[in-house]
Amino acid sequence: MSANAAAFDPFGEDYQADPPASLRWSRDEEPVFYSPSLGYWVVTRYDDVKAVFRDNVTFSPSIALEKITPVSEEATATLAKYGYAMNRTLVNEDEPEHMPRRRVLMEPFTPEQLAHHEPMVRRLVREYVDRFVDAGKADLVDELLWEVPLTVALHFLGVPEEDMATLRKYSIAHTVNTWGRPSPEQQVEVAENVGRFWQYAGTVLDKLRKDPSGHGWMPYSIRAQREHPDVITDSYLHSMMMAGIVAAHETTANAAANAIKLLLENREVWEEICADPGLIPGAVEECLRHSGSVAAWRRLVTRDTTIGGVPVPRGAKLLIVNSSANRDERHFDDPDEVDIRRDNATDHLTFGYGSHQCLGRNLARMELQVFLEELTRRLPHLELVPGQKFSYVPNTSFRGPEHLWVHWDPAANPERKDPSILAARQPVRIGEPSKRTVTHTVTVLSAERAADDVVELTLAAADGKPLPKWSPGAHIDLELGDVSRQYSLCGDPADRTTYRIAVLKDPDSRGGSRYVHENLRPGSTLTLRGPRNHFRLDPAARHYIFVAGGIGITPIIAMADRVKAAGGSYELHYCGRRTTAMALLDRCRRDHGDRLHLHCSTAGTRLDVAALLAEPAEGTQIYACGPDRLLTALEDASAHWPGDALHVEHFTTTQRVLDPSVEHAFDVELADSGRTVRVAADQTVLAALRAAGVDVPSDCEEGLCGTCEAPVLGGEVDHRDVVLTKSERAAGTKMMTCCSRARGGRITLGL
Ligand code: HEM
Ligand code: FES
Repeated sequence: MSANAAAFDPFGEDYQADPPASLRWSRDEEPVFYSPSLGYWVVTRYDDVKAVFRDNVTFSPSIALEKITPVSEEATATLAKYGYAMNRTLVNEDEPEHMPRRRVLMEPFTPEQLAHHEPMVRRLVREYVDRFVDAGKADLVDELLWEVPLTVALHFLGVPEEDMATLRKYSIAHTVNTWGRPSPEQQVEVAENVGRFWQYAGTVLDKLRKDPSGHGWMPYSIRAQREHPDVITDSYLHSMMMAGIVAAHETTANAAANAIKLLLENREVWEEICADPGLIPGAVEECLRHSGSVAAWRRLVTRDTTIGGVPVPRGAKLLIVNSSANRDERHFDDPDEVDIRRDNATDHLTFGYGSHQCLGRNLARMELQVFLEELTRRLPHLELVPGQKFSYVPNTSFRGPEHLWVHWDPAANPERKDPSILAARQPVRIGEPSKRTVTHTVTVLSAERAADDVVELTLAAADGKPLPKWSPGAHIDLELGDVSRQYSLCGDPADRTTYRIAVLKDPDSRGGSRYVHENLRPGSTLTLRGPRNHFRLDPAARHYIFVAGGIGITPIIAMADRVKAAGGSYELHYCGRRTTAMALLDRCRRDHGDRLHLHCSTAGTRLDVAALLAEPAEGTQIYACGPDRLLTALEDASAHWPGDALHVEHFTTTQRVLDPSVEHAFDVELADSGRTVRVAADQTVLAALRAAGVDVPSDCEEGLCGTCEAPVLGGEVDHRDVVLTKSERAAGTKMMTCCSRARGGRITLGL
């Protein structure tokens, strides 16, 4: 055992102050180790933590709620006095009992059902903010973040209003009882409260049983018990009545306090979301990743096995430190930075993963969004009171500051000048965030004619800050009047101050290009999303053939620039009707002179695609962008090339509306979450997964970007995306869930 492993103490100052930082040594040197002081094996790397979550049979969740500090005899006697019999709920239930119960109880967590709770959440947050908005100083935990999630939890569970106050009082005792290290005297006091909480939960349950017709998860569960008495037992209901409050309350209250603290400590990020509330869903997810409220979770090893190559014996107890996994640089770039546009933030493990993944995560996300939205709108000038020391309830798992003091100048509250901001509201996004919501405001620096009917725009961030990084092949989405259009970036990726795009006027345009040509002038402001790249350059090719048709030159020129700068071998074929209509031609001539081949149909130099691709060349990659006619010709002419040689960027998707008279319904089996989801004939796999509460990030939802990819473990896929290469399709190990379907009646996905 290493000295570090011997010294590890989850109740020590380092872990309590910052669990992921205190375990950096472990991620780097000893990612799975035995801690003698705790009697647990500790797992700290992303891949290992996820693998443990994924396999809930080898790694049983039965000890998830076990008391981490052995209970004194006196405390045990105290609990017995109250008939305390906390038993398995969901989170600590093994298979085969767990999944049938989870399935029967899921309905109230679907996005449609959760949407009904949004007005209640918003009303509560507003009422609480009203109470202190003019005070100039507040402890956000005491005055907002602690009580609102508790009240939301009680509403969600369907607890009668008159019982809320009593249940509120007891709920805190449970955390210390389960995850903390109370002294023997504290143990008895805690046990008294836990015992009373248990009894009161029973009383409320009896009341609900008499009339289970109301809204809420507990009445729903009582009704479900009638149909499934073996699955929903009395012991489950009583235990869940108590555990459900804790599951929904403290996790969310702590997550909110962590998030607001983190954002105020990173002032520029706070200000960005004040200016653009569209960034809030992404900020919520990044805060959950960076400073989540569940720092570690537990599992019991049920057979001799290995984790990350380290043998771990049957019977071993595991502390799986998901907060450490969330800061693992092997999975997240610059993991200690707060990047609210991070494209894989949703991969965090704060909600666990697999068949036990947090059922309430979308309720929690909703609450966090509403907190941030109301505070950034009403108190954008909020600041942390400097010099305060943050304290945490000592425990291994639940994490959030006990107090969060903030101050501001009430005279500067925006609502005093403009009461209309009170009515404003950003629609809450139920579910994981979409990259579609991340926006930037840019100003047009110049708009110059680049060819017949082509205007070249230079855009700069309105706040003067560097624009996000991009790589050749990337595009941005511009909001143009009522429509959103995609344009490839054609400038220099090293220049972080400006973006350049070239826009062809489409004679049939009803929005988009016409808007650009008619309305945009230097000084105009625009909203953009992205950049995103669905058309990445493989840096390892021996030779590149670039083919651009018309305005398709925009991504291609950025690629050619990159290959030239890297000293690579390439040729650039640029096709157009006549040279005056070919944008960026001067630049092509200047920068790519001897590599450039011009193909003008009016000059009789049309590209002979078949001749160009006659001989397959080992290590050559073809990148093409242009009209469908050109891309189809390239696809046909390269049929005898290796499967991955041709990469094309479509201007438009080939997606059509799903026609249920042509499509068939099928089942998707989810290997990691142990469920089967039915996909209707007029539904995408992505939509069916979402409706079943399974997180799958998405972006274009048109088969263009690759964000919604899922691993395929069995069954044949009917691929309909334009992302996968021929050989990837043939391998059949992944699919785009937003558009591709099963060929037969069933497919199995690694989700
Ligand atoms: C399970 C975290 C909010 C209900 C879990 C698990 C974690 C977690 C780590 C165990 C996952 C696993 O074993 O793979 C969180 C966090 C929250 C939050 C960080 C807030 C930010 C909520 C809310 C509710 C809720 C608001 C309820 C309304 C549940 C339930 C389970 C669970 C029922 C058990 C699911 C099962 O085992 O099948 N949560 N939770 N959680 N959570 Fe949450
Ligand atoms: Fe873009 Fe599916 S979301 S390919």
